[in-house]
Amino acid sequence: MNSLKAKTAKESLTINTEVVMPNDTNHLGNLFGGKLLQWMDITAAIAAQRHCKRVVVTATVNNVSFENPIKQNSVVTLEAKVSRAFTSSMEVFIDVFVENPVTGEQIKCNEAIFTFVAVDQNGAPLPVPPLTPETELEKKRFDGALRRRQLSLILAGRMKPHDATELKALFV
Ligand SMILES: CC(C)(COP(=O)(O)OP(=O)(O)OC[C@H]1O[C@@H](n2cnc3c(N)ncnc32)[C@H](O)[C@@H]1OP(=O)(O)O)[C@@H](O)C(=O)NCCC(=O)NCCS
Repeated sequence: MNSLKAKTAKESLTINTEVVMPNDTNHLGNLFGGKLLQWMDITAAIAAQRHCKRVVVTATVNNVSFENPIKQNSVVTLEAKVSRAFTSSMEVFIDVFVENPVTGEQIKCNEAIFTFVAVDQNGAPLPVPPLTPETELEKKRFDGALRRRQLSLILAGRMKPHDATELKALFV
């Protein structure tokens, strides 16, 4: 725990609206996955930066799911919020919506979870403020973040499975 003042998730809320142009599509005329990842990375980085007021770098990209194809000309809205902050790292959720052109309804089509680290001018990690979740969804994502961090650190060879207490608890 550090001495920085806690922030709420909504303080980091970042909304980015894009239109799928012909140049953003694959052979089937749907949004190219790499383009969506780029939009996610930028939107989530701004959310992380809003939380810590520091330069951030992308440390991991997790749980990206491309559940539904997004057609050319679609209006796509990305909403990113910090879900939990640790010492220098922050988990950010990105929810992706496509707008129904007739009703204006926002239909959720994808989501992703990225991790950013606040760094100084030499790229060394810096402490970030803790996060206080408020809504039920924010609390659920906050609780899950510790397990996701443990899984990510195990896969990166940075943590021994034996030490991942909260993750192991899921299996007993
Ligand atoms: C991310 C980076 C700053 C971490 O630096 P490091 O020297 O390994 O620093 P640390 O070991 O202190 O880790 C810093 C934080 O990152 C977290 N982290 C590192 N790898 C992680 C992973 N695979 N999953 C989750 N968290 C990770 C650590 O747990 C730590 O978090 P904490 O301070 O909240 O506990 C460094 O690896 C880096 O600069 N990477 C390149 C980033 C970049 O250029 N991104 C753009 C994409 S090319």
